[in-house]
Amino acid sequence: MSYRFDVLTLFPALFDGLRQESLIGKALDAQTIALELHNWREFATDRHSTVDDAPFGGGAGLVLKPDPLVKCLRAVVPAESRKILLSPSGRKFDQKLAHEWAQLPGLTLICGRYEGFDHRIEQHVDDVISIGDFVLNGGEVAAMVVIEAVARLLPGVIGNADSLAEESFADGLLEYPQFTRPRDFEGQTVPDVLLSGNHAAIAKWRLAQRVARTREMRPELLKD
Ligand SMILES: C[S@@+](CC[C@H](N)C(=O)[O-])C[C@H]1O[C@@H](n2cnc3c(N)ncnc32)[C@H](O)[C@@H]1O
Repeated sequence: MSYRFDVLTLFPALFDGLRQESLIGKALDAQTIALELHNWREFATDRHSTVDDAPFGGGAGLVLKPDPLVKCLRAVVPAESRKILLSPSGRKFDQKLAHEWAQLPGLTLICGRYEGFDHRIEQHVDDVISIGDFVLNGGEVAAMVVIEAVARLLPGVIGNADSLAEESFADGLLEYPQFTRPRDFEGQTVPDVLLSGNHAAIAKWRLAQRVARTREMRPELLKD
C-alpha cells in the first residue's frame, strides 16, 4: 500500500509542479506514494464560502475559522493519518522528525494563510510544526518541504538508497564536500586523496571534512 499524504489547502494548484515533476512525480506515477489535496473552502456553509474572519480582540488581518477546516478534516482524512498543523509558532521540523514520520502510514498537512489559524484548531491535530524561523505567506511551500523530506526516505522513492546513509544529518554531521569532473576547474583542483584510490584514506579525509564543516557552519550540532 502506498504512503498517503493528505494536504488541506485553499490553493491546491500550487502543488501542480510537485505532482508532475522529478522524484515525487515518479513516485506518484508508480503509486509508491499518494497525494490527496483537499480545498477546505468547499466545507464552508455560507453563501460566500467564507473561511476567515476578523480576530477577536482586534488586530490586523484575518484569522482562519475553525468550522470549515475541522469539518474537512473529519470528512476526508483517514483516522490513522498523523495530522500536522503548519505554523511558524510550531516546534521545528528536522531530519529526525522526517525519519519518524516516514514510519507512519500517512501524514496530513494543514496549510494556513492570512494571519493563521483560530487557536482552537490545535485541539484537532496531533502536532504543530514550523519549517524554520521565518514567515511564509502560506503553508503550501512548507507542506512541500515536509513531503519531499519524508517521501525520499520511503522505500522505492530514491533510486540509490545508499545515498541516504551518507547525507547531511544522517548521523548528526553535515555532508563532506563532493567533487566531480573536471579535475581542474578554473585553477581549483580536486583534493589529491580523492584520486588516490585509497578507500581508507578517503573515508578518513571525508570524516575529518564533515567534522570541520559542521564546526564551521553548524557548531550547535556538535553539542548533540
Ligand atoms: C502569514 S503566515 C501566518 C503567520 C502568523 N500570523 C504568525 O505570526 O505566526 C500564514 C500561514 O503560512 C504558514 N507558514 C508561514 N510560515 C511558516 C513556517 N515557518 N513554517 C510552517 N508554516 C508556515 C502557516 O500555515 C501560517 O498559518
